[in-house]
This record gives sequence, C-alpha cells and structure tokens, in this order.
Amino acid sequence: MRRAQFLASSAVIFSFIIFVLYGNHILVNVSNRRLMPNTILFLEAQGQPQTDDIGILNGVGREFLPSFKNPCWYEERKNNHELGKVAAYYISTTKPLLLSKCHYKRQSDMILRCLPYFFLIGQPKCATTDVFRRINLHPDVVEPIVKGPHWWTRKRYGPPYASRPVTFSEYLDVFNAPKIEENTRCDKTLHRWSNEKITGDGSTSTLWDSSPTMSYLYKIMSSDTQSISGKLFSRWHISHSVFEKTSGYVGMNTRHDPKSKNVIQNLQEVKYLQYYQYKDEVVLPFTVANVIHSVLPNSRIIAVIREPVSRLYSSYLFFTKKTSLSPETFDRNVKDSIQKWQDCTRQYSDRTCAYNKTLQNSLGVRLHNGLYSLFLRDWLKVFHKDQILVLRMEDYHQNVAETIISIYRHLGLRALTEEEEKVVNMAPVLNKNWKKPTIGKMLESSEKILKEFYKPYNRDLADLLKDSRYEWEDIYLKSEELNASHLTASSYA
Ligand SMILES: *[C@@H]1O[C@H](CO)[C@@H](O)[C@H](O)[C@H]1NC(C)=O
Ligand SMILES: *[C@@H]1O[C@H](CO)[C@@H](O)[C@H](O)[C@H]1NC(C)=O
Repeated sequence: MRRAQFLASSAVIFSFIIFVLYGNHILVNVSNRRLMPNTILFLEAQGQPQTDDIGILNGVGREFLPSFKNPCWYEERKNNHELGKVAAYYISTTKPLLLSKCHYKRQSDMILRCLPYFFLIGQPKCATTDVFRRINLHPDVVEPIVKGPHWWTRKRYGPPYASRPVTFSEYLDVFNAPKIEENTRCDKTLHRWSNEKITGDGSTSTLWDSSPTMSYLYKIMSSDTQSISGKLFSRWHISHSVFEKTSGYVGMNTRHDPKSKNVIQNLQEVKYLQYYQYKDEVVLPFTVANVIHSVLPNSRIIAVIREPVSRLYSSYLFFTKKTSLSPETFDRNVKDSIQKWQDCTRQYSDRTCAYNKTLQNSLGVRLHNGLYSLFLRDWLKVFHKDQILVLRMEDYHQNVAETIISIYRHLGLRALTEEEEKVVNMAPVLNKNWKKPTIGKMLESSEKILKEFYKPYNRDLADLLKDSRYEWEDIYLKSEELNASHLTASSYA
C-alpha cells in the first residue's frame, strides 16, 4: 500500500517535471510560429539591430499571457536589457489540472513586460491630456510613466525624432508592469491566474504621423517587397476592393495611376527606389496602424477629434513662438498653407499629400492634422470598427462623466462605484493651453476660408463614420449665435 502511494507520487512528480520542461518547450514553439522570420532576418542582414523591425524583433513572437487582459509576458531579467527567453509561467490554458491550486510562483529572475492594451491615437489639441488622465483614474487602469512616448510613430527611428533610436525594451519600460502584476490573483472558479489591469499609450501622433513608418517600410521593402507587403496585407481584415475605389496609394502616387487597380500586384511591380528620390515623400498603403495591428491585433483604439478650424487655431497658439503670434500672421500662414496643399493635390491624391512629410514640414499651420477622415480611414482598414472609438471633444466637454463612461465601456472596464466615479469626475480639467497667449480670435477671413477648406473633408468623415455630427454644423451654429449676441470669446477658439 505504502509502496503504491510512493510510486504514485513519484509518477506525479516525474510527470510534473516533464510537463514543466515540455510545457515550456511547447510555448516556445508556439511563439516561434508567430514570428515573421523573413522580416527579422532581413533587418539583421541590414545591420540595423537598433532600429528594430516591423516585427518588433523576436519580442513580438511571444504569446501573451492568456490570463492577463493586458498584453504581457514574462522574460528573463538581463543586465544588458535585451529581450530574454520566453517564460512559460501561467501555463493555465494548456494544463488546467495542475493549476487548480494556483500556487505557481515566478522565479526571481523573471520580470513581467507589457505592451499597451489601448491607444489614445489623437488628435493634438483635442483635450487628450485630460481624457487620458481620466482613463487612468479608473482603478483597473495603470498609468504609464509618460503619456506620449511617440515610439511607434517617431522615436524608434532616431534622428530627427530622437537623439538615437529608442529601443523596444526602452519603450516597454514606459509601462508600469510591476503595478499591473500587483493585482494578479487566483481565480478559484476558473482555477487559474487572472489579472484585469490594463495600460495604454497616449501618443497623439499615432493617428496621423505615419510618414517615418512609411519611409522605413519602404527602405526595407525595396529589396523584399513581396514578402513584407504580403505579410502586412495578409493582416488586412477587409477586402482590397476599398483600394480599388481610391487611386494613388502606391506606385507613383498619381491620381490616375491605372496600376493601382491591383495593389498587391502593383507592389510587386514597383521598384520603389526608382520613383522616390526623397524618402520623406514615400507614401505607402501601409501606415503605423498596420504595424501596431501586426503586433497587437486586439488593441482598443480611441480618437478624440474636434471641429478642425478651432483645432487649427489652438494648435497655432500652442506650437508657435509667442513673439510671432498674431491673428494676421495666422491668416497669412493659412492662405499660404492652403496654396501649398492645393499645389500638391493637383498632382497627387489627398491621402498622398496628407502623409507627405516634406509638405507637412513646409506648412505654416498644421492643416493636415484636421483631415481626420484621411487618417481614420486607414485605421478602419486594419482594425475592426468596434475596436475604434471616435469621440468629439465638444461632446466630451459637454458631458465629461458620460463620455468617460463610454470610454470605460469601450475598454471593457467595470462600472465604477459612486465613490470612484466622484474621484474621476471631480478631477480638475487638465489643459496644456492654460498659458495660451491672449491674442484674440482669428480673423473672419481666416475662419471663412478654413471652413470652406475643411468642409469636404468633414463631409467625408461624416460619411465614413455614418454620423452627421462630424460635419460640426451644431458647433458652427452655436458660434454664429454667440457672434450675433455680441459675445466676444468663442468657447472653441
Ligand atoms: C510632397 O510635397 C512636396 C512639397 O510640397 C512636393 O514638392 C512633392 O511633389 C510632394 N510629393 C508627393 C509624392 O506628394
Ligand atoms: C459675426 O458678425 C459680423 C457682423 O455682425 C458678421 O459680419 C460676421 O460674418 C459674423 N461672423 C460669423 C462667424 O458668423
């Protein structure tokens, strides 16, 4: 009898050891399958280990912990801060039997690493600082160390966006993984670990600033077009018919480029290097949305946008040197920028011009930032519409509490208790424009041309989102009423 027990328990211990070894092995294999080997090898061959690659190194290949809501994994702590081997800790999904007790402890040399669960992608000057802060006030949201790391769009590419390329590992450091880990508990009913905490990236360049990504993809595609574009396209969840309707995505970017009928075929035919002398003007069908989707396909996306004319003025006040600020300078810049925009769109599609960095940099006012539909359309091509929540800043200001609740719902966060809700709603409004110089409203002439300029794009946006609020008629009506009653300050200036 004793002997039988001994044998039985030895067998259990033995199979446990085998399981731990083998279980690890399985997970490692699974993760390897998710890698995009060609892409990675290609970059290593190019000798650009610092810039990482579109597969975000081997790190992307790992499986995220199934019991964490936020995309996280364990890796070996390494002094040189490089990505370590995949650790198979919360092995819950593969062998539930062994997890009934939930008492696996992680080894001390393993650390939790996390990517963001959600992205607040835009737009600058649309109250995103305040929105982001209120999201972070939810007890299940862990605030990152910086609101906008701008890693996907800019910093990973180094100069001129950062003094050197910011590594993937440094980006991960932005997310407070120990804080996320704190809450890990044993779910007695499911017999596994569970963790509901999430964290987010609030970089407001993410929606629109895809030019560095395009230049980079272009560089690596120029000798491996088929493989990389094939991979990015294979992630597209909609049919390519969307592309056929809109010309000018690839090739020479011309409006009437007959080749853009079949994008994949086109990508294979085009030898990018021959067409682009200036890398800032490379415009590809892929944006930073494709790259994020290839790594984090389940991301929740939030975009806050605002009536584009007032957004532009606010952005002008914020980003221009104080000494040169005046409604007259703004007016001149507006006219000049619209001229440049029209010169571009005579030759190229709206989309091509919107992503053209040379053009963006030459504009005295950031006109392109208000062309919401052009950028959002690209996000909607990659992510399912249910994954993207678009909000108007005006509605947010009108009803902060209700808007925040809709954001929590979008992020799958639990409803707050009354007490918790008070904390979120009572928090003072954060506004980086508080020291905005008082130079008064924009000139009527600027307002008039800008409204005309944005009108077709607003309509396009209303069509895209199937919501007439995005023509901002209510806001325009309100400002006219204000004008009529001789109230000077426009609340949206
Ligand atoms: C980009 O903008 C620059 C400056 O406006 C212009 O000269 C160039 O033709 C544009 N190129 C594309 C591809 O849009
Ligand atoms: C404001 O009122 C003035 C004079 O009444 C008018 O000329 C102007 O067009 C109005 N502006 C707007 C934005 O309605």
